Amino acid sequence: MSKKRIGILTSGGDCPGLNAVIRGVVKTSGQLGYECVGFLKGYEGLYDPVRYITLTPKNTTGILNQGGTILGSTNKGRFAATSGVSDRVQLDPELIEGVKTTINQLGIEGLVCVGGDGSLAVAQQFHEHGIPVVGVPKTIDNDLSATAFTFGFDSAVECATHALDRLHTTAASHERIMVLEVMGRHAGWIALSAGIGGGGDVILIPEISWTFENVCHKILDRESQGKRFTLVVVAEGAELPEGGLVGQDQQGAQAKLGGIGQIVAAEIERRLHRETRTSVLGHLQRGGAPTTFDRVLATQYGAHAVRLVVEGRWGEMVCYHPPEIQSVPIVEAVNKLRQVDPHGSAVQAARSLGISFGDRSADESPFGVRIESPEVATADDVELDAEFTLDLAEAAAEEALS
Ligand code: F6P
Repeated sequence: MSKKRIGILTSGGDCPGLNAVIRGVVKTSGQLGYECVGFLKGYEGLYDPVRYITLTPKNTTGILNQGGTILGSTNKGRFAATSGVSDRVQLDPELIEGVKTTINQLGIEGLVCVGGDGSLAVAQQFHEHGIPVVGVPKTIDNDLSATAFTFGFDSAVECATHALDRLHTTAASHERIMVLEVMGRHAGWIALSAGIGGGGDVILIPEISWTFENVCHKILDRESQGKRFTLVVVAEGAELPEGGLVGQDQQGAQAKLGGIGQIVAAEIERRLHRETRTSVLGHLQRGGAPTTFDRVLATQYGAHAVRLVVEGRWGEMVCYHPPEIQSVPIVEAVNKLRQVDPHGSAVQAARSLGISFGDRSADESPFGVRIESPEVATADDVELDAEFTLDLAEAAAEEALS
């Protein structure tokens, strides 16, 4: 009798940890007596032409820490069923029938679909048409509902945080303003986390409307405290104050976002006449080895996805509700994007550190709490203090010499 089979594919934009999921699925399904089939180039490999490879512990060894995906992926083409949560495209019924035939002919008991919002929306359509699927949530943007974390996010944040560490030293040396543009199409999780972790001073995200005036106010406020450089982190999906995203429309695919960092830098320079530079982190955030956190999460997701297949829990997606890996219906994850809560604890903590979100002037106190302002020292006081300190130092020196 031929072996039972599990299928797996990786779909959408890649991210660190995809190979760790593949390895988790292959190892776990092997232990349970399944053969594993990996479809190539996301959903494309499922039909016309069908393209797959047999995955074994042998040909997946050593991939745990490798970025990218050995199966390939795409976020465009026939199976790109989304153009935003509110505007889903229905797949061609002929395609779905073709996929059904492939699954039946290859004797696939269950198909593990690893993807973000758009890819899981495709998996949901498959499920509604009776194709046995389970989902694994992936995206560096961390914007999927029903899970605390998608794998890939931690690695992207680490990359952005390291970039800020590097920008920090050069910004300080040259007394410049540095603008770092990071990914985050609909949600500002990367900008927020890297901004906090990397000592950003201004964080601009899609969830909070901001103005150039407030950004400049923050920069001047820092200068008045003697801090002659500023780090600004901006998510690619942050809207401009006058409205609108920055990027290029693309036919048959989601718009290519990018360029807001340059606009923010130019406007700061125009208004304040301070040297301002931009760095765009782009796909560096998506490449390279996964962090340990992402390896562990992705591996657990892979193992639990196999459990869902074995238990026949079609239409469910593995998810992380710390400290446990659980599962939820895929539809719960794709119905609504998980965005940063502007009133949530992360934003509040950032504000309490003095980080500006460009939405209110820098002299407003955190949590809206009124703080009695301490008596401000006058220039005369400072001079007196300096004289006093000098007297003390001279007295100490005389004593030491006597
Ligand atoms: O969804 C993940 C993401 O990295 C977004 O932040 C970004 O806008 C998009 O993918 C870029 O995709 P690509 O350049 O691969 O088309």
